Amino acid sequence: MLRLHANEHPQGPPAGVAEALHALVPDLHRYPTGDGALQAAIAELHDVPLNRVLIGAGSAEIIGLAWRAFTGPDRAAFFHEPEFDFYPMLGAQCGTPTVTRPWPPDEHLADHVLQARAGLVALSNPHNPTGGWRPRQEIADLAGRLPDTTVVLNDEAYHDYADEAEAGPSLKALSELPNLLTTRTFSKIHGLAGLRVGYGIGHARLIGVLRSLQTPFTVSSAACSAALASLADPASWKARRTRNREQREALAGELAGRGFEVAPSQANFLYVRPPHGTADWAADLLDRGVRVHPVGAALRVTVGSAAETAALVAAVDDILISSRTQHLGEP
Ligand SMILES: Cc1ncc(COP(=O)(O)O)c(C=O)c1O
Repeated sequence: MLRLHANEHPQGPPAGVAEALHALVPDLHRYPTGDGALQAAIAELHDVPLNRVLIGAGSAEIIGLAWRAFTGPDRAAFFHEPEFDFYPMLGAQCGTPTVTRPWPPDEHLADHVLQARAGLVALSNPHNPTGGWRPRQEIADLAGRLPDTTVVLNDEAYHDYADEAEAGPSLKALSELPNLLTTRTFSKIHGLAGLRVGYGIGHARLIGVLRSLQTPFTVSSAACSAALASLADPASWKARRTRNREQREALAGELAGRGFEVAPSQANFLYVRPPHGTADWAADLLDRGVRVHPVGAALRVTVGSAAETAALVAAVDDILISSRTQHLGEP
């Protein structure tokens, strides 16, 4: 089964990770101590004090803590529709209200958030599922227009894939704002989704609140060591960004050439509207061994390796040919 539904990186982690994991084996009877070293490495990477960094078991853990901390019965979570599936799930888990507006956002976003009396505004950037990109400055401006009691969650799970990843205000500048929390993950470009490690960066007050809600030792020593080893190899993630961009363009070209409408993407996935021909593209692709993520009538397709793109395109061609044959066979 070709996994093009979960936005995983098509390649495993950089070579140094295996060595780091191996070196850890003699100490596995100890509780984890590595999150201090990882916290320090991330603080150094972004040039922020330690008290602005929180390590989590995936960025999902930090996002979950933000929901628990900043939403409540009269403090809704606000996000766009469609969005990362985990956001509505958290609303249901926490039993707190959710207010949504259609993607893409209009120019009155701050007014909508104020009207909703939201405690948390969750924005994935690049946006999941469309791959759309918002300059960081817009997110900082939004936070500036909201009261300190409304926290903006700037979810940057796919940031490393964006062409303009280095542009705009730094994470250090964003972390000066009293109501802006950024999350990052090692699950995507670092190729470590299976180990569950991510982090949050924000004002010390926000990080302190999240830390007070976190279960001790959620991040394993293996996850910390692997993340540290990957951080030590920045050339490898830069090469991954370039390769992803090339594959993303190749996949977009192949699909557009077959009648798919392809939204511009800054992530490691494409949001596409298939041409007519079959009622249920996701099911038909699954029948051919390719798993993609359906979003209403659209599909979110992970950018894979060149071989995975070729296999997906072959499955698409097979569906198009069989739907044409069926159509011709109709009376
Ligand atoms: C927008 C977004 N945020 C956060 C995550 C969670 O990533 P993780 O918990 O693996 O860090 C994902 C995972 O796909 C995602 O799509």
